[in-house]
Amino acid sequence: MPATVVLGTQWGDEGKGKAVDYLADRMDVVVRYQGGNNAGHTIIAEGRLLKLHLVPSGILYPHVTSVIADGVVVDPEVLLAEMDDLAAAGVDVSGLRLSLNAHLIMPYHLEMEKVTERFLGKNALGTTKRGIGPAYADRASRVGIRVQDLYDEKIFREKLEVVLKEKNQILTKVYGRLAIPIEGIVEDYVGYAERLRPYIADTTKLLHEALTADEHVLLEGAQGAMLDLDHGTYPFVTSSSPVAGGALAGAGVGPGWIERVMGIAKAYVTRVGAGPFPTEADEAEAEVLRAAGDEFGTTTGRPRRCGWLDTVGLRYAARVNGLTELFLTKLDVLSRLERIPVAVAYRVDGEVTEDWPMTQTQVHHAEPVYELFEGWREDISGATRLEDLPRAARAYVDAVEKLGGVPVTAVGVGPGREQTIAQQGWSTAASGPPARATATSGEGR
Ligand code: GDP
Ligand code: IMO
Ligand code: MG
Repeated sequence: MPATVVLGTQWGDEGKGKAVDYLADRMDVVVRYQGGNNAGHTIIAEGRLLKLHLVPSGILYPHVTSVIADGVVVDPEVLLAEMDDLAAAGVDVSGLRLSLNAHLIMPYHLEMEKVTERFLGKNALGTTKRGIGPAYADRASRVGIRVQDLYDEKIFREKLEVVLKEKNQILTKVYGRLAIPIEGIVEDYVGYAERLRPYIADTTKLLHEALTADEHVLLEGAQGAMLDLDHGTYPFVTSSSPVAGGALAGAGVGPGWIERVMGIAKAYVTRVGAGPFPTEADEAEAEVLRAAGDEFGTTTGRPRRCGWLDTVGLRYAARVNGLTELFLTKLDVLSRLERIPVAVAYRVDGEVTEDWPMTQTQVHHAEPVYELFEGWREDISGATRLEDLPRAARAYVDAVEKLGGVPVTAVGVGPGREQTIAQQGWSTAASGPPARATATSGEGR
């Protein structure tokens, strides 16, 4: 049975957690394919509020196998704490599976990130400081340590000695920091490995078997297309590939299995950290969106930068991901505005273009060309059908579909699982797999 990729089309925090939780009811396997605990995916369902960082967003469904795949960088202490928190909240985590090929975030990654961000000064990226960049850098340099290394203590110690020797030279001689001793690390990580032993798996085999057995697999992205290492606003990006191509590499799945690529787009745009953001609103307008949309980082608590929907960026995200459909989230947050600006083009150095600029300098120079859409004041958070929406809200959804060039198949009208409009005739309902008999009842799908 074909697989579905669900990914962010902006700079993260589009509502991927909510969308994946909504869709996972119909899935057998949900897979995180890249990133690490820089992600913060929020789910509000079954009377719970979950903020997930590493655990895939299908975890609330006991029938779903949750896979942390090869492409993810894992801080095992954070993963275990998250699993403990979920178990304490009554969530069954026994279906979690962790790839032996996933790379580990080590204590020296956190330390290296602290000093290198400080070293960059005003050019700092504003990372989440979770060791993501340094862990992916070590992976590419082939000095990374993987989950599987923890199960051979001799090998683990050998690899750690080599890498730590180099890191300690850099930490002490370049940055004037204290050296990190090996001893505590070996004991801590061997301890984490013991606790993780029941969950480790050959996850590419697991996924292949699931797909060939006609099971439904959802590949869940973290971050978003604009934070992609290759296709995002480099260097203000994360160190992995959130785009659909990254889903294949990160999960170890061939392209032929992918049928749907669902992009998650917030009805406006936010960004955390530094970097260009052409449609960023002025502070007074941003404050309205931030307060109404509760736009504070799930992982770091930082206030998110807020601005208007950017359909130049959306068309670019559609192109680099091959989007087949869009899930438009947080439409309810706009229910207070007289007029809603939407960027339809950019003016770059005097020229108007509907395409994403070719160079980073042009992105920095881009001035959005806005079209103003009529707002609405009705509370739409209880809407369950497209017809329940005020005329202006429907027109906004239609415009996103037209300007983005991708059909909108679901609309979020609130943070709760059931606050989702996905009508008959829209492709989520039309071409998606049938709802499972075991689906949680009363969720008003
Ligand atoms: P993710 O990183 O893409 O999973 O997104 P986050 O969870 O970091 O941020 C999205 C925020 O918006 C969370 O607080 C969600 O609960 C919330 N959210 C998601 N969809 C909707 C929606 O349709 N309406 C409203 N009001 N909030 C939503
Ligand atoms: P989710 O999955 C929003 C941003 C950081 C910083 C840049 C690099 O919740 O959408 P990193 O720590 O990854 O090296 O930081 O990327 N960033 C995110 N912004 N949502 C996220 O994840 C993010 N993960 C990283 O703020 O600008
Ligand atoms: Mg988030």
